[in-house]
Amino acid sequence: MKFKTLKWQNHKLYLLDQTRLPLIESYVECATYLDVARAIKKMIIRGAPAIGVAAAFGMALGARQLTTRSPEGFRQGIRKVGQALIATRPTAVNIFWAVERMKQVAEKNLLNGIAAAKATLLREAVSLLKEDVQANREIGKQGQILIPDGSSILTHCNAGALATAGYGTALGVIRAASEAGKRLHVFIDETRPFLQGSRLTAWELQKERIPCTLIADNMAGALMAQGKIDLALVGADRIAANGDVANKIGTYSVARLCHAHRIPFYVAAPTSTVDFSIANGTKIPIEQRPEAEMTFIQGKRIAPRGIKVLNLAFDVTPNRYIWALITEKGAIFRPFKKNLRKLFKII
Ligand code: MRU
Repeated sequence: MKFKTLKWQNHKLYLLDQTRLPLIESYVECATYLDVARAIKKMIIRGAPAIGVAAAFGMALGARQLTTRSPEGFRQGIRKVGQALIATRPTAVNIFWAVERMKQVAEKNLLNGIAAAKATLLREAVSLLKEDVQANREIGKQGQILIPDGSSILTHCNAGALATAGYGTALGVIRAASEAGKRLHVFIDETRPFLQGSRLTAWELQKERIPCTLIADNMAGALMAQGKIDLALVGADRIAANGDVANKIGTYSVARLCHAHRIPFYVAAPTSTVDFSIANGTKIPIEQRPEAEMTFIQGKRIAPRGIKVLNLAFDVTPNRYIWALITEKGAIFRPFKKNLRKLFKII
């Protein structure tokens, strides 16, 4: 990869500041768990898998900050750190998943003492990062089979290396197809209001020299009607037990457009994105973001003062519009409820 989304160096976490891309490539230093929580909230780091990995490092940093000598005090401290991290963004399940995994590791290793538990938590965060890159490479391998040579692909938001610990999910599939020698063209939805498409996906694909064209979100339908899109490929923030998918606002519109034009609509995500505790998409909490993300662009007001604003960060695509869920364990097709259970070996 030509850049690192997050890196552990000199006992600190460094995050590529995604609020400053594509113009400035700079890193934000996180020395405490609250630094990490703030960075997630402000979307310095964003994308479901990436914020999961960042949260894991947040847990390791938080554990390191604890001065208690009692196991119970350590447990309580870890719980508090976890709460601060999961309070940042509610939709992506990956933060909850990572915090839970780190809490379990802390509990297991507490038997060997607090110092040992702290060291193990840091090692666990590092393995979570490596596992994520590995999973994405596998998603790429599994997913690229579904991409015919010469495809014109629509993507929404950024589900790339920037949204993960590296390689990406939806963009991982595109990367893998390109590495396999397939000729591709990617249409990038700009993804209002935070512009993950124009600022981040365009930046990433340009770096990779993958042919691409930026479009405004409302152009996708026209391109489909003109026969210019062969398939759509997006990531996911949370997948319910029945295969409904929460992803960046606008994904549902893309899925419905694909359905109307009989164009394949694929979702690529690691299995850590699946939440079996949620039966269907209507139960997925949807984050609302600050009004200023819609009323300002680069500090410049673009809507009248006092206008009422609704800024929903995500929407839910019902499983019936999804052709396949591409995971590191393989691609699965309908019926998703049954096939997800099979994938996880739940009888
Ligand atoms: O608000 P964001 O930028 O964190 O939203 C990101 C998305 O919706 C991505 O598509 C999703 O997290 C998948 S990333 C591999």
